Amino acid sequence: MRIDAISIFAQYFQALDLSLLGKAQAAGIIDFKAHDLRDYTHDKHKTVDDTPYGGGAGMLMKPEPWGEAFDAILGEDVSNDADGRPVIIFTSPAGEVFKQATAHELAQRKHIVFACGRYEGIDQRVVEYAASKGEVRLISIGDYVLNGGEVAAIAMIEAIARLVPGVIGNAESLVEESHSDGLLEYPSYTKPAIWRELEVPAVLLSGNHAAIAKWRHEQQVERTRQVRPDLLNE
Ligand code: ADE
Repeated sequence: MRIDAISIFAQYFQALDLSLLGKAQAAGIIDFKAHDLRDYTHDKHKTVDDTPYGGGAGMLMKPEPWGEAFDAILGEDVSNDADGRPVIIFTSPAGEVFKQATAHELAQRKHIVFACGRYEGIDQRVVEYAASKGEVRLISIGDYVLNGGEVAAIAMIEAIARLVPGVIGNAESLVEESHSDGLLEYPSYTKPAIWRELEVPAVLLSGNHAAIAKWRHEQQVERTRQVRPDLLNE
């Protein structure tokens, strides 16, 4: 899978060189590249922002550097075949909310480009232009506002890439985690059986696999009911 990220702070993405994603890049499973938007400017100050038409607070990202970045990264050819067509994700608190299902969907794609805005956002024509290069989506990672889309893109890249076959050694660990079946994960314990007078639930030491599975499912339902009742109604 190829993933590109366009940002004025490309250094943020160095975090993706660590751990399992770093290994997946070294193994050639994930081909990731961060691009500095300022490389697509032509003035001395490498300007990427300007004041908004119609007035208002703050600065907007100007369209020209984005257009050049998309041309360079996506080229002229855009395949129309649904699978091969790139997805261009604009990180935005005004977008659809990213869920585990979104991660699964995007993990099937061959090429994803993250456009990470800063300031008060990006000139809307950039979004329209991007639609001529691929499938455009505006995605938020939650109902709060970050200073820019970089952290949001990193969170999405990690959630997507770990679902790509070969990135996580033990694929079984993906099956029993939170959100994989619409419920939160059950609590887990390791040795020792008693630690600072706190005991591991007896059922987990019983060797009775059916009882363990039942207990774990009950824990999932109870935890979800208490912490995220909204998930039970979806
Ligand atoms: N940029 C700023 N806030 C964001 C959010 N919540 N999700 C995605 N991108 C953002």
